[in-house]
Amino acid sequence: MPVQFLGIAATNDGSETTPRSGPAFDKEYTLRLAAAHEEHGWDRVLFAYGSGSPDPAPAAAYIASRLDRLGILLAHRPNVSYPTFAAKTFATLDRISEGRLTVHFITGGNDHEQRREGDTLTKDQRYARTHEYIEIVKKIWTTRKPFDHEGEHYRFHDFVSDVFPVQQPRPDVSFGGSSPAAYAAGGAEADIYCLWGEPLARTAQQIEAVKTAAKVAGRLHPPRIQVAFRPIIAPTEQAAWEKAHRTVGAIKERRAKGEPLGRRRYTAEPENAGSQRLLAIAEAGERYDRALWTPTAAATGGAGNSNALVGTPETVAQALLDYYDLGVDILSARGYDLLQDAVDFGRYVIPLVREKVAERDAARTPRGTHNLAVVGG
Ligand SMILES: Cc1cc2nc3c(=O)[nH]c(=O)nc-3n(C[C@H](O)[C@H](O)[C@H](O)COP(=O)(O)O)c2cc1C
Repeated sequence: MPVQFLGIAATNDGSETTPRSGPAFDKEYTLRLAAAHEEHGWDRVLFAYGSGSPDPAPAAAYIASRLDRLGILLAHRPNVSYPTFAAKTFATLDRISEGRLTVHFITGGNDHEQRREGDTLTKDQRYARTHEYIEIVKKIWTTRKPFDHEGEHYRFHDFVSDVFPVQQPRPDVSFGGSSPAAYAAGGAEADIYCLWGEPLARTAQQIEAVKTAAKVAGRLHPPRIQVAFRPIIAPTEQAAWEKAHRTVGAIKERRAKGEPLGRRRYTAEPENAGSQRLLAIAEAGERYDRALWTPTAAATGGAGNSNALVGTPETVAQALLDYYDLGVDILSARGYDLLQDAVDFGRYVIPLVREKVAERDAARTPRGTHNLAVVGG
């Protein structure tokens, strides 16, 4: 099974270690960062969502119109629009990008952040709404006749879209979350289920939970699994560890000064299961498995994708292959110097992982049945 790499489509150069040097939407940087991903072997980039951040949909349209190959993963929160409207936005974006769109549906893990844009549902209610929303979007993408919808969260009559995606039958649906309500909704609807990087044993447990939820929902094939890390690489192990300690030092310094660490201005202890898990893992230990390092997660308060993989490109590639061997076939990575780290990871880590994955796939495939296996996989 081929492996894919997801990077980040930031709209400015800020990160947890560095304040941004220009406006929140820096058009030139947005293109430069995406182009660096395209030129260095990445498959797709995430356009993330935050209540006050630049709207990722037009940013994604801009990148799609300027680059030819890079895939687009558009984060979208159901509370900010009606599903009929969103389905047309997505279909138009799939047209602009000529079939390169995947939509990442975000339920929202923090009440305070959700209320900033008028969403007063509880987290479990939000998951039920996301579930209904995804069903509607899929139906709009694939239905040529007007239809009515009578659901718990949405009711509309006589709707049919006049714009359809290039990808047939429809673009992929991506989904994240680590609570039981998340597994149930994502297990039923997602083509790609996204996890934040945790130790191998914990990741295996989450994969099992997603598979079980998919089975309960009556699916024959579970979602593909994506796992996200913050790699910190250098030419030697010692240099990589020095860099890792410098990185955490910079995060702590900014936090002590009260500077915002990212686009998500969360206020208190995390309410989302994913971040709570990251903090509990960091509390239980700093190092896990081959190269997983948790102080970056602890220093940011378990903010999203925050566990590091530290070492030489060879060590980090081997660590990623450990996840591939667990059944993860989409690897998401983002550094702290977004542009330079995207170039370095693309140059030194991606080719190594692809090479080893190809070797594993060849060893698994009897001679002469190669093409069949690829089509089937
Ligand atoms: C790979 C990945 C990317 C995510 N991107 C965003 C994002 O851009 N904006 C956001 O508000 N939440 C984002 N999330 C958060 C989740 O969509 C979800 O709201 C949260 O994890 C739910 O909490 P739970 O773990 O308690 O189920 C992302 C999650 C994952 C796994």
